[in-house]
Amino acid sequence: MARDLIVIGNWKMYKTSREASNYIEHLLSKIEGCKASVFLAVPFTSISSAAASARQAKLEVGAQNMNDARDGAFTGEIAALMLKEAGATFVLLGHSERRRIFGESDAFIHRKVLRALADDLRPVLCVGETLDERSGGETEEVLKRQIETALADVPEEKAGEVILAYEPVWAIGTGKNATPEMAQEVHAFCRACLADLFGKRKAGQISILYGGSVKPENVRSLVSEKDIDGVLVGGAALDPETLAEIIQQCEGI
Ligand code: 13P
Repeated sequence: MARDLIVIGNWKMYKTSREASNYIEHLLSKIEGCKASVFLAVPFTSISSAAASARQAKLEVGAQNMNDARDGAFTGEIAALMLKEAGATFVLLGHSERRRIFGESDAFIHRKVLRALADDLRPVLCVGETLDERSGGETEEVLKRQIETALADVPEEKAGEVILAYEPVWAIGTGKNATPEMAQEVHAFCRACLADLFGKRKAGQISILYGGSVKPENVRSLVSEKDIDGVLVGGAALDPETLAEIIQQCEGI
C-alpha cells in the first residue's frame, strides 16, 4: 500500500511570527512542484502568520503541543480548537522533549491524542527510546508501551488520521542518526504494534516518520526503507534552504 511521503519541520522554540512569514516565502520558492507533503510545526505565536503565508500552497501548519481539555481554568495552556482556529491542521504530541523536560506521561499523551482527534487536528504521535533503554535491550518494550497507551480507544475509522514518528532520543540534536537498517527494523516493529491495535490493512495506511539528526546527506537512504514514510526534522529545518534540500532529496524515491 503506497503511503504519502511526509516531511515535517519542527521549529521547536525558534522563530517569531515575522521570521515565520519570511521563512515560508523562501521555502515555497524552493519547493515548487515537489510532490512530498510538507508540514511545519511552529511556535503557537507563529501559527496564524505561518498559515496565512502557506495559504494555497501544499504546506500544512501545525503546533508542537496542546492540552487535553476542551477548555477550562488551565493557565498558560492551549486548546485544540484554539490551534485549529489559528490555522493549525496537525499537532505534535509526546515529543521526547515534552516527556523528558516537562514530565508528560503516556496517560496524558493518550488523552491529548483523543482530544486532537475529537477536535479535528491530526495527531503526530512521537515515540522513542533513550540510549539506556536501547543499551538495556528495552527498545521494543518501550515503544510498544508508548504506542499502545497513546492510541488506546482510538476508533479504527479515525486511525488513518494518526501519523506516528519514531524519534530515538539518543539521535535528537546529537548528529548521530539511526542507520537506515536500524530505523527500518524499529519502524516494522511499530507497524506491527499498529496492526495489533487496528488490523493489518489500517496499519499499512498509517505513515511512520523517522526523526533524529536528519540532514540532506542521510535522508535519501532513510526514506528508501520500506516502512520509513518520511522524516521529522529539527535543527536542519531551521534554515529553509536546508529543509528544501531535504525535501528535494526525498523526491523520486
Ligand atoms: P534534530 O533533527 O535536531 O535531531 O531534532 C529532531 C526532532 O526532535 C524533531 O522533532
